[in-house]
Amino acid sequence: MQRILVVDDTELNRNLLYHILKEDYIVDTAEDGEAALRKLKESRGGTAALLLDLRMPKMDGFAVISEMKKNGWLQRIPVLVISGEGAAEVESQCFELGVSDFIHKPFVSSVVKNRIRNTIELFECKNQLEQKVEEQEEALRRQDRIIRIQAEKLREAKSFDRMMLEYGAAIMEVETRLKSLNAEFSQEYNRNPFESIKSRLKTPESIYEKLERKGYPATVENIRERLTDVAGVRVICSFPDDIYRLAELFTRQDDIVLLREKDYIKHPKSNGYRSLHLILSVPIFLSGGKKNMNVEMQFRTIAMDFWASLEHKLKYKKDVDDADEIVSQLKACADSIETLDYQMQEIRNRIDLGKDAKKYPGGGQEEDYSKLYFA
Ligand code: GTP
Ligand code: MG
Repeated sequence: MQRILVVDDTELNRNLLYHILKEDYIVDTAEDGEAALRKLKESRGGTAALLLDLRMPKMDGFAVISEMKKNGWLQRIPVLVISGEGAAEVESQCFELGVSDFIHKPFVSSVVKNRIRNTIELFECKNQLEQKVEEQEEALRRQDRIIRIQAEKLREAKSFDRMMLEYGAAIMEVETRLKSLNAEFSQEYNRNPFESIKSRLKTPESIYEKLERKGYPATVENIRERLTDVAGVRVICSFPDDIYRLAELFTRQDDIVLLREKDYIKHPKSNGYRSLHLILSVPIFLSGGKKNMNVEMQFRTIAMDFWASLEHKLKYKKDVDDADEIVSQLKACADSIETLDYQMQEIRNRIDLGKDAKKYPGGGQEEDYSKLYFA
């Protein structure tokens, strides 16, 4: 049976509550605030609820609540005030201080019993949930420590630096080719197929975490063979058709091999994510000769990129209120972005068809744009 502490300076009230509750709980009593705090301390968190009168000599109910709050006990022990105070302000004040319930005297026995039972159950649920969250957070912290230690080990492996240098070279190779294309298009057609490039090498922490997730031991060989996104290049374009044009121009280069394509523009993810992902094998040239490296390229419009960075933040925020609401708002934004991207593209096409029509192959029609180079 759970233990309940009844605090009231009137013996009659203490006895009344004792008799109402004695069949369901072990009922302890105290006749003033000081005695109550002493008993709470002695029971070392073994009290399931506190029934507290407000007006008492020496130390009143408010002082007990304040003291419990100061010691952090209010989080663990629900307080139900039982008082003859009729004023609404007193009741509000008690709730503001953090009590769980307020029962007016004179009370009905069955109501008191039910309210005590409900409060205790609710508190138990809350405490269990909090403990689960705490355990999960501890597990995450442990996982985080392991990842950091393992990443450090990876960094220390001799061949790791060499491998990262090679991935770095692959990124430079891709960037140079993209920039060459941009320069050419800029000069020939007064148009830039992309707005900007963002490149990154995966961190050892992230490498370890991904290998672990896929069930492979963290070795340099596994990184080379099992991961395709150690070197990543993100290409931000102005218009959707630039994405496909550029991806096509790039993958047609005769020493580049397209290993895998995921088209999240034609087939958006359920959250609204849109981008074109290519896994490519790209040659690099070092003193030992030619070597092929895997590079992950992501193509997206400026607006899709803006969306993706905001959405990415949501994934790493654990304490977001209304997460479901945000997810659906993000989805709606992604859909609007798609509409906008194509509207802007349409406008650009009309502008191109106008004064600069001759400048573009096919009079501004996209389809012929790249044929010029590969006919
Ligand atoms: P990862 O294990 O995350 O690399 O995913 P994957 O191997 O299944 O590959 P995928 O092509 O689906 O995603 C590769 C990368 O695209 C991710 O690492 C992210 O950078 C990006 N990405 C994919 N899906 C989303 C998404 O829903 N939102 C955002 N913001 N980025 C995404
Ligand atoms: Mg990835």
